[in-house]
Amino acid sequence: MFGKISRPYDCINRLCSLGIDRYWRRQLIVSVGRCRTGPVLDLATGSGDVALLLQRAGYDVTGLDFCAPMLALARQKGVKKLLQGDAMHMPFPDQSFAAVTVAFGFRNFADYTLALREIWRVLQPGSALHILEFSSPAKWLAGPYRCYLGKIMPLLAGIISRQPGAYDYLASTVARFPDADGLAALLAAAGYTNIAWQKHTFGIVAIHRGQKPVSGCCQTHKTAS
Ligand SMILES: C[S@@+](CC[C@H](N)C(=O)[O-])C[C@H]1O[C@@H](n2cnc3c(N)ncnc32)[C@H](O)[C@@H]1O
Repeated sequence: MFGKISRPYDCINRLCSLGIDRYWRRQLIVSVGRCRTGPVLDLATGSGDVALLLQRAGYDVTGLDFCAPMLALARQKGVKKLLQGDAMHMPFPDQSFAAVTVAFGFRNFADYTLALREIWRVLQPGSALHILEFSSPAKWLAGPYRCYLGKIMPLLAGIISRQPGAYDYLASTVARFPDADGLAALLAAAGYTNIAWQKHTFGIVAIHRGQKPVSGCCQTHKTAS
């Protein structure tokens, strides 16, 4: 599916978010901010916007995605380290990364718990996972937002990509994705600590941060109940 929409993907993002998606991605980099001590993994890197921001900020970043056409776009933009692979079975040794970022990708993972466990495996103890994802907007915005996401945006995206239905997935994945409290609970159930999040643009998106505790290398994962 992402292969089909890869070419117009950036254009659809810019247009349908009125350019605000750039601000959201920059905020994700701010969230990573304090961690410059080692390699960073940008998971579900897609066309590489976050990886490029991290690279330009001086991070040693690797972008991972399972969609080759998306990775080709990231490569064209100048992202140096890219790898094709599945977020739930990553080709990295344990404790490889000083931070993991995921922008608008976590929602698409088939199994959130498995993904959180795999991210945990590749994180160094004391380092953090940063998730930028759609969330639940303020009540006054919920109705118009649902209409925009479910009807207007798929229409616009269908016209731009010449793939009617290409963005029908968006509204359904956003609707079934947990709200900010729910995502924090998932992180906690997977053993992450110091969980914090910040909502942006009236709660349309949220950036969550969860840390693998320093003693985490020996910690067993709690399971969601
Ligand atoms: C909506 S795009 C987000 C891309 C990019 N992070 C951004 O900020 O624009 C979602 C990306 O997640 C990737 N993806 C979804 N599930 C994946 C998985 N299990 N492993 C690797 N990549 C995955 C898709 O191929 C796609 O490129």
